[in-house]
Amino acid sequence: MTFDVYFMRDDYSSIMKAKRQDLLRLLAAAKATAAELEDELTLDAKFRLQASEACKQLTRTLQKPVDRAMDLVFQPVLPAALQVALDAGWVAHINDSANGHETSVTARQIAKDTSSDVELVKRLMRVLTADGTIHETRSNEYAPTSFSKLFDNPAWANGLRHSLRDFNITLAGMPAFLAKHQYNLENTQETLYKHVHGASFFEHVLAGGDMGAQFNSFMSVIRDGKKPWFDVYPVAERLEVSSPADAVLVDVGGGKGHDLIAFSQFMARLQMQGKLVLQDQPSAIEGIPTEHASSIEIQAHDFFTPQKVIGARAYFLKHILHNWSDEDCVDILTRIRDAMKSGYSKILINEFVLPDEKCDSTSATRDVVMMALLDAKERSREQWGALIEMTGGLAIDSVWPLGFGDGSIIEVTKEDV
Ligand SMILES: C[S@@+](CC[C@H](N)C(=O)[O-])C[C@H]1O[C@@H](n2cnc3c(N)ncnc32)[C@H](O)[C@@H]1O
Repeated sequence: MTFDVYFMRDDYSSIMKAKRQDLLRLLAAAKATAAELEDELTLDAKFRLQASEACKQLTRTLQKPVDRAMDLVFQPVLPAALQVALDAGWVAHINDSANGHETSVTARQIAKDTSSDVELVKRLMRVLTADGTIHETRSNEYAPTSFSKLFDNPAWANGLRHSLRDFNITLAGMPAFLAKHQYNLENTQETLYKHVHGASFFEHVLAGGDMGAQFNSFMSVIRDGKKPWFDVYPVAERLEVSSPADAVLVDVGGGKGHDLIAFSQFMARLQMQGKLVLQDQPSAIEGIPTEHASSIEIQAHDFFTPQKVIGARAYFLKHILHNWSDEDCVDILTRIRDAMKSGYSKILINEFVLPDEKCDSTSATRDVVMMALLDAKERSREQWGALIEMTGGLAIDSVWPLGFGDGSIIEVTKEDV
Protein backbone atom coordinates (compact mmCIF):
# COMPACT_ATOMS: atom_id res chain seq x y z
CA MET A 1 0.00 0.00 0.00
CA THR A 2 2.71 2.45 1.04
CA PHE A 3 4.70 1.47 -2.01
CA ASP A 4 1.64 2.25 -4.27
CA VAL A 5 1.17 5.72 -2.75
CA TYR A 6 4.84 6.52 -3.32
CA PHE A 7 4.61 5.23 -6.84
CA MET A 8 1.49 7.34 -7.56
CA ARG A 9 3.12 10.47 -6.10
CA ASP A 10 6.18 9.97 -8.30
CA ASP A 11 3.94 9.40 -11.30
CA TYR A 12 1.88 12.49 -10.50
CA SER A 13 4.90 14.77 -10.12
CA SER A 14 6.47 13.60 -13.38
CA ILE A 15 3.15 14.21 -15.21
CA MET A 16 2.99 17.73 -13.69
CA LYS A 17 6.62 18.37 -14.60
CA ALA A 18 5.86 17.41 -18.22
CA LYS A 19 2.79 19.67 -18.21
CA ARG A 20 4.85 22.64 -16.97
CA GLN A 21 7.35 22.07 -19.78
CA ASP A 22 4.40 21.83 -22.16
CA LEU A 23 3.02 25.16 -20.97
CA LEU A 24 6.38 26.92 -21.43
CA ARG A 25 6.77 25.38 -24.89
CA LEU A 26 3.24 26.46 -25.91
CA LEU A 27 3.84 30.00 -24.63
CA ALA A 28 7.10 30.26 -26.58
CA ALA A 29 5.34 28.93 -29.70
CA ALA A 30 2.48 31.43 -29.26
CA LYS A 31 4.98 34.29 -28.95
CA ALA A 32 6.84 33.16 -32.09
CA THR A 33 3.57 32.80 -34.07
CA ALA A 34 2.42 36.27 -32.95
CA ALA A 35 5.76 37.72 -34.11
CA GLU A 36 5.37 35.97 -37.50
CA LEU A 37 1.84 37.34 -37.83
CA GLU A 38 2.82 40.89 -36.87
CA ASP A 39 1.86 42.54 -40.18
CA GLU A 40 -1.28 40.45 -40.51
CA LEU A 41 -2.33 41.38 -36.96
CA THR A 42 -1.85 45.08 -37.71
CA LEU A 43 -4.45 44.77 -40.47
CA ASP A 44 -7.05 42.81 -38.52
CA ALA A 45 -7.92 44.83 -35.43
CA LYS A 46 -10.69 42.48 -34.34
CA PHE A 47 -8.47 39.41 -34.36
CA ARG A 48 -5.63 41.33 -32.67
CA LEU A 49 -7.95 42.38 -29.83
CA GLN A 50 -9.38 38.87 -29.49
CA ALA A 51 -5.88 37.37 -29.26
CA SER A 52 -4.61 39.96 -26.77
CA GLU A 53 -7.76 39.52 -24.67
CA ALA A 54 -7.03 35.76 -24.61
CA CYS A 55 -3.48 36.58 -23.39
CA LYS A 56 -4.87 38.76 -20.60
CA GLN A 57 -7.18 35.91 -19.54
CA LEU A 58 -4.18 33.57 -19.51
CA THR A 59 -2.17 35.98 -17.35
CA ARG A 60 -5.12 36.16 -14.95
CA THR A 61 -5.19 32.36 -14.78
CA LEU A 62 -1.47 32.22 -14.06
CA GLN A 63 -1.42 35.05 -11.53
CA LYS A 64 -2.62 34.47 -8.01
CA PRO A 65 -5.26 37.01 -6.89
CA VAL A 66 -2.69 38.49 -4.49
CA ASP A 67 -0.23 39.05 -7.38
CA ARG A 68 -2.94 40.85 -9.31
CA ALA A 69 -3.86 42.97 -6.30
CA MET A 70 -0.19 43.90 -5.78
CA ASP A 71 0.13 44.92 -9.46
CA LEU A 72 -2.93 47.13 -9.05
CA VAL A 73 -1.67 48.76 -5.86
CA PHE A 74 1.76 49.59 -7.31
CA GLN A 75 0.51 50.40 -10.84
CA PRO A 76 1.00 54.26 -10.54
CA VAL A 77 4.80 53.83 -10.38
CA LEU A 78 5.25 52.85 -14.05
CA PRO A 79 3.66 55.90 -15.77
CA ALA A 80 5.38 58.26 -13.29
CA ALA A 81 8.79 56.64 -13.93
CA LEU A 82 8.21 56.82 -17.69
CA GLN A 83 7.27 60.48 -17.59
CA VAL A 84 10.47 61.29 -15.66
CA ALA A 85 12.52 59.32 -18.18
CA LEU A 86 10.84 61.23 -21.02
CA ASP A 87 11.07 64.70 -19.41
CA ALA A 88 14.73 64.20 -18.43
CA GLY A 89 15.64 63.09 -21.97
CA TRP A 90 16.70 59.55 -20.94
CA VAL A 91 14.30 57.79 -23.32
CA ALA A 92 15.35 60.06 -26.22
CA HIS A 93 18.99 59.25 -25.44
CA ILE A 94 18.29 55.49 -25.48
CA ASN A 95 16.20 55.74 -28.67
CA ASP A 96 18.95 57.75 -30.35
CA SER A 97 21.54 55.15 -29.38
CA ALA A 98 19.98 52.86 -31.98
CA ASN A 99 20.52 55.48 -34.69
CA GLY A 100 24.29 55.85 -34.23
CA HIS A 101 27.17 53.37 -34.19
CA GLU A 102 26.26 52.18 -30.69
CA THR A 103 23.25 49.97 -30.14
CA SER A 104 22.89 50.59 -26.42
CA VAL A 105 23.78 53.19 -23.81
CA THR A 106 24.83 52.90 -20.17
CA ALA A 107 23.19 54.52 -17.14
CA ARG A 108 26.47 56.35 -16.49
CA GLN A 109 26.48 57.87 -20.01
CA ILE A 110 22.81 58.89 -19.77
CA ALA A 111 23.46 60.50 -16.37
CA LYS A 112 26.48 62.39 -17.71
CA ASP A 113 24.74 63.63 -20.90
CA THR A 114 21.53 64.70 -19.17
CA SER A 115 23.10 66.02 -15.93
CA SER A 116 21.12 63.49 -13.88
CA ASP A 117 22.08 61.49 -10.80
CA VAL A 118 23.26 58.06 -11.99
CA GLU A 119 21.59 56.25 -9.07
CA LEU A 120 18.27 57.88 -9.94
CA VAL A 121 18.65 56.81 -13.58
CA LYS A 122 19.34 53.20 -12.51
CA ARG A 123 16.41 53.08 -10.06
CA LEU A 124 13.77 54.42 -12.44
CA MET A 125 15.15 52.51 -15.42
CA ARG A 126 14.73 49.25 -13.46
CA VAL A 127 10.97 49.87 -13.48
CA LEU A 128 10.99 50.48 -17.24
CA THR A 129 13.15 47.46 -18.09
CA ALA A 130 11.11 45.17 -15.82
CA ASP A 131 8.01 46.27 -17.72
CA GLY A 132 9.67 45.80 -21.14
CA THR A 133 9.33 49.49 -22.06
CA ILE A 134 13.14 49.58 -22.41
CA HIS A 135 15.36 46.61 -23.24
CA GLU A 136 18.18 45.88 -20.74
CA THR A 137 21.13 44.60 -22.78
CA ARG A 138 23.27 43.97 -19.66
CA SER A 139 23.58 45.39 -16.16
CA ASN A 140 22.64 49.13 -16.30
CA GLU A 141 22.86 49.27 -20.08
CA TYR A 142 19.83 49.95 -22.26
CA ALA A 143 18.48 49.68 -25.81
CA PRO A 144 15.19 50.93 -27.29
CA THR A 145 12.09 48.84 -28.00
CA SER A 146 9.38 49.50 -30.60
CA PHE A 147 7.31 50.82 -27.68
CA SER A 148 9.96 53.29 -26.45
CA LYS A 149 10.39 54.47 -30.07
CA LEU A 150 6.72 55.47 -30.15
CA PHE A 151 7.65 58.30 -27.74
CA ASP A 152 9.90 59.89 -30.40
CA ASN A 153 6.59 61.51 -31.37
CA PRO A 154 6.10 64.10 -28.58
CA ALA A 155 2.30 63.76 -28.87
CA TRP A 156 2.52 60.42 -26.98
CA ALA A 157 4.59 61.96 -24.18
CA ASN A 158 1.93 64.68 -24.04
CA GLY A 159 -0.73 61.97 -23.73
CA LEU A 160 1.11 60.56 -20.73
CA ARG A 161 1.39 64.03 -19.13
CA HIS A 162 -2.36 64.51 -19.73
CA SER A 163 -3.04 61.15 -18.09
CA LEU A 164 -0.91 61.77 -14.99
CA ARG A 165 -2.11 65.29 -14.39
CA ASP A 166 -5.72 65.20 -15.55
CA PHE A 167 -6.78 61.56 -15.17
CA ASN A 168 -4.81 60.44 -12.12
CA ILE A 169 -5.22 63.52 -9.96
CA THR A 170 -8.92 63.81 -10.80
CA LEU A 171 -9.67 60.09 -10.39
CA ALA A 172 -7.85 60.06 -7.04
CA GLY A 173 -10.57 62.47 -5.85
CA MET A 174 -13.43 60.36 -7.26
CA PRO A 175 -14.13 58.00 -4.32
CA ALA A 176 -14.46 60.86 -1.78
CA PHE A 177 -16.45 63.00 -4.24
CA LEU A 178 -18.97 60.23 -4.99
CA ALA A 179 -19.25 59.31 -1.30
CA LYS A 180 -19.96 62.98 -0.47
CA HIS A 181 -22.80 62.94 -3.02
CA GLN A 182 -24.05 59.57 -1.70
CA TYR A 183 -23.34 57.92 -5.05
CA ASN A 184 -25.96 59.97 -6.83
CA LEU A 185 -24.95 62.83 -9.11
CA GLU A 186 -28.35 63.55 -10.63
CA ASN A 187 -29.13 66.63 -8.58
CA THR A 188 -25.69 68.10 -8.09
CA GLN A 189 -24.25 71.07 -9.96
CA GLU A 190 -20.74 70.34 -8.64
CA THR A 191 -18.44 68.47 -11.03
CA LEU A 192 -15.52 66.32 -9.91
CA TYR A 193 -12.93 68.06 -12.11
CA LYS A 194 -13.94 71.52 -10.87
CA HIS A 195 -14.02 70.22 -7.29
CA VAL A 196 -10.40 69.00 -7.63
CA HIS A 197 -8.89 71.68 -9.94
CA GLY A 198 -11.01 74.80 -9.29
CA ALA A 199 -12.08 75.30 -12.95
CA SER A 200 -13.72 73.13 -15.60
CA PHE A 201 -11.59 70.92 -17.87
CA PHE A 202 -12.25 72.99 -21.01
CA GLU A 203 -11.68 76.27 -19.14
CA HIS A 204 -8.17 74.93 -18.52
CA VAL A 205 -7.70 73.58 -22.06
CA LEU A 206 -8.98 76.72 -23.79
CA ALA A 207 -6.96 79.08 -21.59
CA GLY A 208 -3.98 78.12 -23.76
CA GLY A 209 -0.71 77.31 -22.01
CA ASP A 210 0.97 73.95 -21.58
CA MET A 211 -2.12 71.99 -20.65
CA GLY A 212 -4.11 73.03 -23.74
CA ALA A 213 -1.11 72.48 -26.03
CA GLN A 214 -0.44 69.01 -24.58
CA PHE A 215 -4.10 68.00 -24.77
CA ASN A 216 -4.43 69.12 -28.42
CA SER A 217 -1.17 67.41 -29.29
CA PHE A 218 -2.42 64.13 -27.75
CA MET A 219 -5.73 64.44 -29.64
CA SER A 220 -3.75 64.37 -32.91
CA VAL A 221 -2.52 60.78 -32.28
CA ILE A 222 -5.43 59.31 -30.34
CA ARG A 223 -6.66 57.39 -33.41
CA ASP A 224 -3.22 56.43 -34.74
CA GLY A 225 -3.14 52.85 -35.98
CA LYS A 226 -6.94 52.73 -36.32
CA LYS A 227 -8.90 52.54 -39.54
CA PRO A 228 -9.98 56.07 -40.56
CA TRP A 229 -13.73 56.69 -40.57
CA PHE A 230 -13.73 57.46 -44.31
CA ASP A 231 -12.42 53.94 -45.09
CA VAL A 232 -15.67 52.55 -43.66
CA TYR A 233 -18.29 55.21 -44.36
CA PRO A 234 -19.22 55.33 -48.10
CA VAL A 235 -18.03 58.88 -48.71
CA ALA A 236 -18.28 58.93 -52.51
CA GLU A 237 -21.92 57.79 -52.48
CA ARG A 238 -23.15 59.84 -49.54
CA LEU A 239 -21.12 63.06 -49.53
CA GLU A 240 -20.98 64.06 -53.20
CA VAL A 241 -21.49 67.76 -54.01
CA SER A 242 -22.26 69.46 -57.33
CA SER A 243 -19.77 72.35 -57.22
CA PRO A 244 -16.25 72.94 -55.81
CA ALA A 245 -17.70 75.91 -53.88
CA ASP A 246 -20.07 73.63 -51.90
CA ALA A 247 -19.01 72.70 -48.36
CA VAL A 248 -18.52 68.91 -48.14
CA LEU A 249 -17.49 68.63 -44.50
CA VAL A 250 -17.42 71.04 -41.57
CA ASP A 251 -15.28 69.58 -38.76
CA VAL A 252 -16.93 71.16 -35.72
CA GLY A 253 -14.48 71.25 -32.79
CA GLY A 254 -11.87 69.71 -35.09
CA GLY A 255 -8.86 70.77 -32.98
CA LYS A 256 -5.67 71.23 -35.02
CA GLY A 257 -7.34 69.78 -38.13
CA HIS A 258 -5.58 66.36 -38.10
CA ASP A 259 -8.76 64.56 -39.23
CA LEU A 260 -9.63 67.09 -41.88
CA ILE A 261 -6.11 67.08 -43.31
CA ALA A 262 -6.29 63.27 -43.65
CA PHE A 263 -9.77 63.60 -45.19
CA SER A 264 -8.57 66.23 -47.69
CA GLN A 265 -5.84 63.79 -48.85
CA PHE A 266 -8.48 61.06 -49.17
CA MET A 267 -10.71 63.41 -51.24
CA ALA A 268 -7.78 64.23 -53.51
CA ARG A 269 -7.21 60.48 -54.14
CA LEU A 270 -10.91 60.11 -55.04
CA GLN A 271 -10.77 63.33 -57.11
CA MET A 272 -13.74 64.61 -55.10
CA GLN A 273 -14.60 68.28 -55.25
CA GLY A 274 -15.88 70.58 -52.49
CA LYS A 275 -14.82 72.79 -49.61
CA LEU A 276 -13.59 71.67 -46.19
CA VAL A 277 -14.06 73.84 -43.10
CA LEU A 278 -12.30 73.45 -39.75
CA GLN A 279 -13.96 75.07 -36.72
CA ASP A 280 -12.69 75.34 -33.15
CA GLN A 281 -12.05 77.88 -30.43
CA PRO A 282 -9.32 80.48 -31.23
CA SER A 283 -6.71 79.00 -28.86
CA ALA A 284 -7.15 75.54 -30.45
CA ILE A 285 -6.70 76.64 -34.08
CA GLU A 286 -3.88 79.12 -33.61
CA GLY A 287 -0.55 78.09 -35.11
CA ILE A 288 -1.97 75.62 -37.68
CA PRO A 289 0.62 75.51 -40.51
CA THR A 290 -0.44 77.72 -43.43
CA GLU A 291 0.24 75.00 -46.03
CA HIS A 292 -3.18 73.57 -45.09
CA ALA A 293 -4.98 76.90 -45.46
CA SER A 294 -5.41 76.50 -49.23
CA SER A 295 -7.37 73.25 -49.00
CA ILE A 296 -9.09 73.88 -45.65
CA GLU A 297 -10.89 77.00 -44.49
CA ILE A 298 -10.14 77.61 -40.82
CA GLN A 299 -12.80 79.37 -38.73
CA ALA A 300 -12.87 80.42 -35.07
CA HIS A 301 -16.24 79.16 -33.88
CA ASP A 302 -18.01 78.45 -30.59
CA PHE A 303 -20.36 75.52 -31.15
CA PHE A 304 -22.83 76.96 -28.63
CA THR A 305 -23.48 79.82 -31.09
CA PRO A 306 -25.36 79.61 -34.44
CA GLN A 307 -23.56 77.50 -37.07
CA LYS A 308 -22.03 79.81 -39.67
CA VAL A 309 -21.78 77.36 -42.57
CA ILE A 310 -25.30 76.98 -43.91
CA GLY A 311 -26.35 73.91 -45.91
CA ALA A 312 -23.08 71.94 -45.79
CA ARG A 313 -23.20 68.35 -47.07
CA ALA A 314 -22.04 67.11 -43.65
CA TYR A 315 -21.11 68.40 -40.20
CA PHE A 316 -18.56 66.17 -38.48
CA LEU A 317 -18.55 65.85 -34.69
CA LYS A 318 -15.71 63.62 -33.55
CA HIS A 319 -15.27 63.04 -29.84
CA ILE A 320 -17.29 66.16 -29.09
CA LEU A 321 -20.66 65.06 -27.72
CA HIS A 322 -19.14 62.59 -25.22
CA ASN A 323 -17.61 65.67 -23.54
CA TRP A 324 -20.97 67.24 -22.75
CA SER A 325 -24.17 66.63 -20.77
CA ASP A 326 -27.40 65.80 -22.65
CA GLU A 327 -28.58 69.41 -22.25
CA ASP A 328 -25.36 70.82 -23.75
CA CYS A 329 -25.43 68.23 -26.56
CA VAL A 330 -28.99 69.27 -27.45
CA ASP A 331 -27.73 72.88 -27.63
CA ILE A 332 -24.78 71.93 -29.91
CA LEU A 333 -26.98 69.75 -32.16
CA THR A 334 -29.72 72.40 -32.39
CA ARG A 335 -27.22 75.00 -33.68
CA ILE A 336 -26.18 72.58 -36.42
CA ARG A 337 -29.71 71.40 -37.19
CA ASP A 338 -30.77 75.00 -37.84
CA ALA A 339 -28.03 75.36 -40.50
CA MET A 340 -28.84 72.03 -42.23
CA LYS A 341 -30.71 71.63 -45.51
CA SER A 342 -33.42 68.92 -45.23
CA GLY A 343 -32.88 65.90 -47.46
CA TYR A 344 -29.26 66.95 -48.14
CA SER A 345 -27.22 67.81 -45.02
CA LYS A 346 -26.09 65.19 -42.50
CA ILE A 347 -24.42 65.19 -39.12
CA LEU A 348 -21.74 62.52 -38.80
CA ILE A 349 -21.12 61.72 -35.15
CA ASN A 350 -17.89 59.78 -34.57
CA GLU A 351 -18.18 58.27 -31.08
CA PHE A 352 -18.39 55.03 -29.16
CA VAL A 353 -21.71 53.22 -29.08
CA LEU A 354 -21.64 51.31 -25.79
CA PRO A 355 -22.76 47.69 -26.17
CA ASP A 356 -25.56 46.54 -23.87
CA GLU A 357 -23.40 43.72 -22.50
CA LYS A 358 -19.76 42.55 -22.39
CA CYS A 359 -18.48 46.09 -22.93
CA ASP A 360 -14.84 46.29 -24.04
CA SER A 361 -12.51 47.95 -21.55
CA THR A 362 -11.65 50.90 -23.88
CA SER A 363 -15.27 52.10 -24.07
CA ALA A 364 -15.94 51.34 -20.39
CA THR A 365 -12.89 53.27 -19.11
CA ARG A 366 -13.47 56.21 -21.51
CA ASP A 367 -16.98 56.51 -20.11
CA VAL A 368 -15.64 56.86 -16.55
CA VAL A 369 -12.98 59.37 -17.70
CA MET A 370 -15.76 61.45 -19.31
CA MET A 371 -17.70 61.33 -16.05
CA ALA A 372 -14.66 62.33 -13.97
CA LEU A 373 -13.28 65.09 -16.20
CA LEU A 374 -16.41 66.53 -17.76
CA ASP A 375 -19.49 65.23 -15.95
CA ALA A 376 -20.31 63.69 -19.34
CA LYS A 377 -20.55 60.17 -20.79
CA GLU A 378 -20.18 57.67 -23.59
CA ARG A 379 -23.62 56.58 -24.84
CA SER A 380 -25.39 53.34 -25.79
CA ARG A 381 -27.48 53.00 -28.99
CA GLU A 382 -30.57 53.72 -26.91
CA GLN A 383 -29.01 56.82 -25.32
CA TRP A 384 -27.93 58.17 -28.75
CA GLY A 385 -31.50 57.64 -30.00
CA ALA A 386 -32.92 59.47 -26.96
CA LEU A 387 -30.48 62.39 -27.41
CA ILE A 388 -31.36 62.84 -31.09
CA GLU A 389 -35.06 62.62 -30.27
CA MET A 390 -34.63 65.18 -27.45
CA THR A 391 -33.08 67.62 -29.95
CA GLY A 392 -36.10 67.36 -32.24
CA GLY A 393 -36.24 67.58 -36.04
CA LEU A 394 -33.39 65.06 -36.45
CA ALA A 395 -33.32 61.29 -37.00
CA ILE A 396 -30.61 58.61 -36.94
CA ASP A 397 -30.36 57.28 -40.49
CA SER A 398 -27.68 54.62 -39.98
CA VAL A 399 -24.79 53.53 -37.77
CA TRP A 400 -21.45 52.44 -39.26
CA PRO A 401 -19.22 50.56 -36.78
CA LEU A 402 -15.55 51.35 -37.44
CA GLY A 403 -14.18 48.17 -35.92
CA PHE A 404 -14.17 46.20 -32.70
CA GLY A 405 -13.92 48.57 -29.68
CA ASP A 406 -13.27 51.40 -32.10
CA GLY A 407 -16.34 53.61 -32.18
CA SER A 408 -18.87 54.22 -34.93
CA ILE A 409 -20.12 56.83 -37.35
CA ILE A 410 -23.72 57.72 -36.49
CA GLU A 411 -25.34 59.36 -39.50
CA VAL A 412 -28.06 61.84 -38.55
CA THR A 413 -30.36 63.59 -41.04
CA LYS A 414 -32.78 66.48 -40.76
CA GLU A 415 -36.43 65.54 -40.89
CA ASP A 416 -38.65 67.28 -43.41
CA VAL A 417 -40.89 69.90 -41.83
C1 LIG B 1 -11.92 65.91 -27.37
S1 LIG B 1 -11.41 67.22 -28.40
C2 LIG B 1 -11.77 66.54 -29.98
C3 LIG B 1 -11.01 67.20 -31.07
C4 LIG B 1 -11.17 66.55 -32.44
N1 LIG B 1 -12.54 66.55 -32.90
C5 LIG B 1 -10.63 65.14 -32.39
O1 LIG B 1 -11.42 64.19 -32.34
O2 LIG B 1 -9.42 64.96 -32.36
C6 LIG B 1 -12.69 68.41 -28.17
C7 LIG B 1 -12.52 69.67 -29.01
O3 LIG B 1 -13.62 70.54 -28.74
C8 LIG B 1 -13.12 71.88 -28.76
N2 LIG B 1 -14.08 72.76 -28.06
C9 LIG B 1 -14.38 72.79 -26.73
N3 LIG B 1 -15.32 73.72 -26.49
C10 LIG B 1 -15.64 74.26 -27.70
C11 LIG B 1 -16.59 75.25 -28.10
N4 LIG B 1 -17.38 75.83 -27.21
N5 LIG B 1 -16.67 75.55 -29.42
C12 LIG B 1 -15.86 74.93 -30.33
N6 LIG B 1 -14.95 73.98 -30.01
C13 LIG B 1 -14.84 73.65 -28.70
C14 LIG B 1 -11.77 71.76 -28.08
O4 LIG B 1 -10.95 72.88 -28.36
C15 LIG B 1 -11.25 70.46 -28.68
O5 LIG B 1 -10.54 70.70 -29.87
